[in-house]
Amino acid sequence: MSCVLGIETSCDETACAIVRDRRKVQSSVVRTQIDLHKKYGGVVPEIAARAHIEWLNDIVAQAMHRAAVEPADITGIGVAHCPGLVGCLLVGVSAAKALAFAWDKPLLGVHHVHAHLYASCLIPPEDITDQPSLPPDYPPWPAVGLVISGGHTALYEVENFTALRRLGSTIDDAVGEAFDKVAAILQLGYPGGPLVETLALRGHADAVKFPLSLLGRESLDFSFSGLKTAVLYHVNGQGGTQRTSADLSPQQRADTAAGFERTVVEVLTIKVRRALEIIRPRSLIVGGGVAANQAVRGALQRVARQAGIPLFLPVQAYCTDNAAMIAGLAAELLAHGQHADLDLGVIATA
Ligand code: KG4
Ligand code: ZN
Repeated sequence: MSCVLGIETSCDETACAIVRDRRKVQSSVVRTQIDLHKKYGGVVPEIAARAHIEWLNDIVAQAMHRAAVEPADITGIGVAHCPGLVGCLLVGVSAAKALAFAWDKPLLGVHHVHAHLYASCLIPPEDITDQPSLPPDYPPWPAVGLVISGGHTALYEVENFTALRRLGSTIDDAVGEAFDKVAAILQLGYPGGPLVETLALRGHADAVKFPLSLLGRESLDFSFSGLKTAVLYHVNGQGGTQRTSADLSPQQRADTAAGFERTVVEVLTIKVRRALEIIRPRSLIVGGGVAANQAVRGALQRVARQAGIPLFLPVQAYCTDNAAMIAGLAAELLAHGQHADLDLGVIATA
């Protein structure tokens, strides 16, 4: 029986979680720094790192308390050590090393992006039963994995959760970043994904046609900066400065959001289909903040159904950054006999 404590501080969420038996979330505490960064329109690394330092001890104590566990119950300490903002990662990694050393527990360095895929296997506390077999099962291997977050957009061939090969990734903006930038163009606020999604519900997706950027017939890479620029020119005029979104009618703004979201969904659908044709996997796994988007979830359900394979999606709470996915993947690594030394480093891009 494993009982792993996970720490996540790679960007602007300070989080700690306790996960038992690799998949059963006992507690997941996430404190977001949105209020600290929103006046800047994006995450300020120095402010983020300082807030992690201030908040982390209390978040760890809360996670332990809510799960009703003592240090003696813990079988491993997992921490996101790549990729992310270096100053932020260092806070979590230093704390994890201190706990591993003080409590004499194995330390596990976890890849944040891989953990987003693992999130699909987590069982929230309210769904945990005494049944020995718990839904959903692990994905049948091999799988194709799609991570769509604010910092990353990537496709993977997943042999299992400890053996992943990247098939393609974004050459410019991540998909969540594109949502955030479109929200800024439409003056909706930050972070933009949920706000664009809500506005898009009132729009007609076919009222505005934006270009699809597919990077050639074979490519599994992504590009979203052209789409963002197309939205900017549509809203602000060709030079990008003649008007603002305030000059559009409410319906025109909603149509813009819907047209943008539809274009993103089309790109993701086409790329995932390509990956499924190449890999011929037995399942599709999706994770990351944008996986919370209902239009995206629905489109990927259809892709998986047409391919005749199951789709593994995290529940909403585990789509965006959290530490339960870090603790879960750490438990998986531990079960595969892996652990890190106390000289574990942080890596900004991996
Ligand atoms: O996974 P995540 O918390 O952070 C990274 O690892 O980057 O993803 C955050 C991103 C943000 O860009 C946010 O706008 C986007 O996920 N997001 C959404 C939705 N909820 C969050 N994008 C579209 N629709 C949503 N409902
Ligand atoms: Zn993330």
